[in-house]
Order: sequence, then structure tokens, then C-alpha cells
Amino acid sequence: MKVLVTGGLGFIGSHTVVELQNEGFEVVIIDNLSNSSEDVLKGITNITGKTPLFEKLDLREKASVQDFFKKHSDVTGVIHFAASKAVGESVENPLLYYENNISTLVYLLQELQQKPEASFIFSSSCTVYGQAEKMPITEDAPVQAAMSPYGNTKQIGEEIITDTTKVTNINAILLRYFNPVGAHSSNQIGELPLGVPQNLVPFITQTGVGLRKELSVFGDDYPTPDGTAVRDYIHVVDLAKAHVIALQRLFNKKNLQKVETFNLGTGTGSSVLEVINSFEKVSDKKLPYIIKPRREGDITEAYANTDKANNVLGWKAELSLDEAMASAWKWEQKVRS
Ligand SMILES: NC(=O)c1ccc[n+]([C@@H]2O[C@H](COP(=O)([O-])OP(=O)(O)OC[C@H]3O[C@@H](n4cnc5c(N)ncnc54)[C@H](O)[C@@H]3O)[C@@H](O)[C@H]2O)c1
Repeated sequence: MKVLVTGGLGFIGSHTVVELQNEGFEVVIIDNLSNSSEDVLKGITNITGKTPLFEKLDLREKASVQDFFKKHSDVTGVIHFAASKAVGESVENPLLYYENNISTLVYLLQELQQKPEASFIFSSSCTVYGQAEKMPITEDAPVQAAMSPYGNTKQIGEEIITDTTKVTNINAILLRYFNPVGAHSSNQIGELPLGVPQNLVPFITQTGVGLRKELSVFGDDYPTPDGTAVRDYIHVVDLAKAHVIALQRLFNKKNLQKVETFNLGTGTGSSVLEVINSFEKVSDKKLPYIIKPRREGDITEAYANTDKANNVLGWKAELSLDEAMASAWKWEQKVRS
């Protein structure tokens, strides 16, 4: 089975391509290299012994998307990672985000709706829940007004897919990721953030190698056990495996509805200080950090109820925070060496 992975050279996409190839799928990647490099193909090849097909194209170009589906007419399954993902940048430049995250989705669905049947997996996010009232967060927790254009693109994306599946032969699974971290155990692929990292773990590892002077911990007065904000950090390899399972579910027609939604997290919340402690343990290094005031827009805590993913999807996160931090640290050292 040939599967299209958009954004397949990015962080989560590349790990998913590895798992798909390990399961025998033929993969074709679309990526415009706006946040990745073609070298990632080598990493994927080194791990799996197979080089995926790669089409360098920009999904914002509708004609290129149409040409792609003419050329690869046997593609009926798509995992759609390609998107812009920096929350701050989305506030500065909302139209970039609405164009890159919404028009690309529409063009893909327009092609897929022409097929007798099609399967679509969408990268959504726990940001759709905002600050949920109850922890851990279940999939039926209300979606709250988005706090950024980026977050809004995930909510709108979910709605576009839901509306489209009602009137087409497309079946879809919306995967709401919590906080993906870590790198492949082979140390061949990992996260490669451009510029100053937006996320905690790459900031920690970059501080560990001396690229950043110190980590800022935003807020130590949250109503959490140690006062710092709590998130659910999920190893990217566990996350990648969930995509393969989700795709197989659609291919094997095991889905119970035309659109299903699953949380992908570990079910355990970790505070910023716990993540720092984990890094210090696995790296045997002291991490310089300072406490700063809370950052506007940050929520107190978010961690997943994973019952639906465990029982319905048949997937469970297996790797620990320490394993994720150790792999992220090993990767950072390799990238900087
Ligand atoms: N990493 C996270 O913390 C996180 C959390 C929740 C959801 N997500 C979502 O998961 C998906 C993947 O995230 P990631 O962390 O792997 O990001 P990433 O930036 O590493 O990967 C995205 C890839 O898509 C490509 N791309 C972007 N726009 C494109 C376009 N118009 N045409 C072709 N290629 C394009 C980029 O070059 C990049 O390789 C995104 O949709 C993101 O919003 C990520």
C-alpha cells in the first residue's frame, strides 16, 4: 500500500515514515523543506534500509497537488503533517498560518474526494482543549476558543475534515498530540528546530550543549505540586507508531465513525522542574535555569486521558520521559558535534 506522508521530512513525519516502512508500507513524502532538510532522507534510509519516494513540492500550490495525485494515482491513504507550527509566529503573521495550514488541507481533500475511498490522518493538537476543566483530558472535553491563529488552524482543520467526511468517501482520524519529544533510538533522526526553540525539550538540550546560556522557567506559582506548569510529554517514536495503527484501522475498515478522534499522550503529567530533573539525571549535567514570571497564554496543566487510544485504537505509549530525554540529549550532541 502506498501512503502519502506530507511533511514527512519533519520531526514527527520522519519518525512516522520509519514506522510505516518497518510495517511494509510504501511511502511517498511531500515536503517543501521549509522546516526540514533533504538529509533526513538519509537518516530514514539508514534506519530502514529503504529510501522513501520524495516529491519536493509546496502544498500551497494547488496545481502541484493535482499533478502529484495524477502521478501517484494509487495513493488512497494520507497522513497530513505538513503545517507551520510556531504559536508566536502565528500571532505575528496569521495569514501565513491560515494559508499554510488550511489551504493545503483543502487541496488534499479535494483530490481525495475524487477517489472511490480514501483514508486521512490529521495532526491535531491538545491546544484545542485550551485549559481544560478536568484532568486528565478526555476526547469529549469541550473545544475552547483558540488562543492563537496556530491553534485556530487545528480547530478549523478538524471542522473541515468532519464536514468533508459527511459527504465524501473519505474516512478520517484526528490525532490530538500532547507534547512530542525525543528522537529515534538509532540517533539517525530527531528534532531540528530552526532558530530559538519554541518548545521546552529542545531548549533544554540546546542549553545543555552550551548553545543557550540558560533556560527560562515561566512561572513557579501555578497551582501544581511544584508550582511549574504541567504537560504530557510523549516520545515521538510512540507517537509515530500510533499513526501506523490509525492508518491500518482505516484501511481495514475498523473505524466506527467516519471521523474518529484520539488523544495521543502518556496519561502522565510532568512539571517543567520534573523535565529538568530528568534531563539532569540522564545527562549527568546541571542545567542552568532562572525562574521568570508566567507567560501570557500559557495554561497551567494538560495531560491526556488515554483510555480511548488504549482501548479503541489499541495503542499505548511505552517509552518513559527519561528515555525520551536521553534520546533527545544524544541527538542534540550529535547535531552539534
Ligand atoms: N511538534 C509538536 O509539538 C506538535 C504538537 C501538536 C501538533 N503538531 C502538529 O504535527 C505536525 C507535524 O509537526 P512537526 O513537529 O513534525 O513539525 P515540522 O515542522 O518538523 O514538520 C512539518 C514539515 O512540513 C513541511 N511543510 C510545511 N509546510 C509545507 C507546505 N506548504 N508544503 C510542503 N511541506 C510543508 C516542513 O518543511 C516540515 O518538514 C504539524 O501539523 C504540527 O502542527 C506538532
